[in-house]
Amino acid sequence: MKNNEDFYTVRGYEILGKKKKMLSHSMEDYLEMIYRNSIEEGYVRINTLAESLNVQAPSATKMVQKLTKLGYLQYEKYGIVKLTPKGEKIGRFLLERHKIIEDFLKLIGVKEKLLVNVELIEHNVTKGALAKIKILNSFFKSYPEIFKKFQEYSLAYKEDES
Ligand code: FE2
Repeated sequence: MKNNEDFYTVRGYEILGKKKKMLSHSMEDYLEMIYRNSIEEGYVRINTLAESLNVQAPSATKMVQKLTKLGYLQYEKYGIVKLTPKGEKIGRFLLERHKIIEDFLKLIGVKEKLLVNVELIEHNVTKGALAKIKILNSFFKSYPEIFKKFQEYSLAYKEDES
């Protein structure tokens, strides 16, 4: 019996742990956008949020309610959305992650569908890979002469046909 209980306890924690980390891509987009939009005033209106995410206000309200239940947001009257400390923490991270990926793609010369690519990568990149990309960005910025070499190399690069 004891073993069984232990088993369920461990399993439960695992599930909880997973649940905690389980933010869907869409939830991440919302938290990132709410963070972006509330930097200046400390809050964002549901209509502004819906507009900036290109969704209908009722969808935004639904998601905001969900994120409020999960403890990331404080949904006040009159359509005012605020981040909780936990929401702010994750929002800051999500915005930073977005910027790191965007910087990286710009540095390597991606111009076409830049934001589409950022969106595709940011939700899937691992923490470890993100940290390495951040170092590469910083390296290129610290050594403009090496970055210039890279750009020249990149422009002259031809697929190896062998
Ligand atoms: Fe993003």
